[in-house]
Amino acid sequence: MKKITVVGAGFVGATAVQRIVEKELGDVVMIDVIEGMPQGKALDLMESAPIEGFDVEVMGTNDYKDIEGSDVVVITAGIARKPGMSRDDLVKINSTIVSEVCENIKKYAPESIVIVVTNPLDIMTHVALKMTEFHPSRVIGMSGVLDSARFATFVAKELGCSARDVDAMVLGGHGDSMVPLPRLTTVSGVPITELMDDETIDRLVQRTINGGAEIVELLKTGSAFYAPSAAITTMVASIVRDQKRILPAAVYLHGQYGHEGIYLGVPVKLGRMGVEAIVELDLTESEQAMLERSADAVKKGISTLEI
Ligand code: APR
Repeated sequence: MKKITVVGAGFVGATAVQRIVEKELGDVVMIDVIEGMPQGKALDLMESAPIEGFDVEVMGTNDYKDIEGSDVVVITAGIARKPGMSRDDLVKINSTIVSEVCENIKKYAPESIVIVVTNPLDIMTHVALKMTEFHPSRVIGMSGVLDSARFATFVAKELGCSARDVDAMVLGGHGDSMVPLPRLTTVSGVPITELMDDETIDRLVQRTINGGAEIVELLKTGSAFYAPSAAITTMVASIVRDQKRILPAAVYLHGQYGHEGIYLGVPVKLGRMGVEAIVELDLTESEQAMLERSADAVKKGISTLEI
């Protein structure tokens, strides 16, 4: 049985745990700094097992010893940006949290594959790589699966077709600089550039880029968690079941797409070993230029770090 740890038992973490156990991907440890909270949520989830019919275990804890032997660790611990807080303040607070979490991962789960979810994503994944000192193939950021799902949702809605038949591709950073690729976004194999006019595509691209903020504006007191937790679960499944799916994710580039030593969202093959291959797409000049802008934004973020 695989062992999966989810750090941070908040909205994203707890919902991811629910999805992971309902799919029986492995036994799950849910850990948080708040005393009693992960234990309570784990017990509540276990009590749904007879109804949902899953045979895996969920455990809640405040003690990192319990993550020992984890195959995969998902980091959702952190705080959300509060009114009046600058982006730099958020980077400082969350990088301290992610660093502390990573010290424990290094100590107790040195063989694990780490999926980072805490925002700002590309920067926090960089922090996790430095702090764990793991091979980059084992430190991955969750961004592209979520961004592509949002793009696919909007395309399906626009065309009035099933979202299952839409295959969307979004590269780059997870934020304002993300790069949705209409040319490589298809409906049952047909590029959307053949199905919609430019104006419609631009509108859907903008909505995708603004996808996280649109939810924050509606929720007012938090950020998205249903689609993020679904994206996490897809990545965890591909790893623990060695599915070798080709999914967009934030990975450490070493020469690919002309970049060295930064995390950027690109398609990768995810399997038992983590990132088993980085897929290099043939980009047009304007697509590559957008990716460059995205890389610049990520580099700028990393330059503010004190690690
Ligand atoms: N160790 C473990 N857990 C921690 C730590 C820590 N050092 N610091 C904070 N946490 C926990 C909090 O106690 C809280 O339960 O992380 C959890 C975060 O949960 P929420 O506040 O509900 O936030 P959530 O919506 O789940 O988002 C988590 O994912 O998508 C990103 O931008 C989002 O960075 C945010 C993260």
